[in-house]
Amino acid sequence: MELDGILNDVSAYLEWELDEGRRTVSVSPDVVAELGDAAGKVETEMPEPKPKPQAPPTPAVSSSTPRTPAKPGDSLEAVAAEIAECTACELHEARTNTVPGQGCMHPDILFIGEAPGADEDAQGIPFVGRSGQLLTKMIEAMGYSRDTVFIANINKCRPPGNRAPSPAEMQVCIPYLKRQISLLEPKLIVALGATAINGLVDLPKGMGITKVRGSWLEFEGIPLMPTFHPAYMLRNPNMKRPVWEDLKNVLRRLGKPIPEMKKA
Ligand code: URA
Repeated sequence: MELDGILNDVSAYLEWELDEGRRTVSVSPDVVAELGDAAGKVETEMPEPKPKPQAPPTPAVSSSTPRTPAKPGDSLEAVAAEIAECTACELHEARTNTVPGQGCMHPDILFIGEAPGADEDAQGIPFVGRSGQLLTKMIEAMGYSRDTVFIANINKCRPPGNRAPSPAEMQVCIPYLKRQISLLEPKLIVALGATAINGLVDLPKGMGITKVRGSWLEFEGIPLMPTFHPAYMLRNPNMKRPVWEDLKNVLRRLGKPIPEMKKA
């Protein structure tokens, strides 16, 4: 990619992070060094870049990790009822509704996002705002509907100002999602964005979303495709193409036909 293209993408990414309420981003010395190489003139006093790993990213959860079986008598309704009463973290204080998830049992695909935003908090349904409309279009472009997949989030309550959930908030909420996954038994998981990926997979150090996007990982033996969050695609429409490639890989793995992407 030309330097202009890289800079446009970086600038769109930083704007998106700002929109998401984040005020700091970590940049590894390797990335700074790569940008310097691309420009051919950026000088840096960063330490020598470490050699790049040759092997593709290894799934941190190995295929032998057993799937957690659903507890007898447990149900999605029971999980949703517990979520509705949950006060385990401070996110319960400002919520209007909890947002447990939506879709069908035993779906081919479970989409997992970060946390509800304002629209989702108002309606109690995941991905119904602008990001949700884009996600819905992509689901439909794949030949599914919101009723024939399942859509959930790492966190079930809206973080104030749409900030990312803290690690502690993720940790107390993820057991609900794990129970849902055990009950749903999806064939595949699509993890949308860094929060979803980090919540489900223990990535090796230095492996961020841009490195693992598009490579198959696993969660408890379930194939997991990491891809960008729809909010990121809204900020950076160039990213729709790579995400569509990831979703085509999902369809291939499911043995489904690959439709052409219509113009959004
Ligand atoms: N973003 C998410 O990650 N989840 C939603 O439900 C809505 C927006």
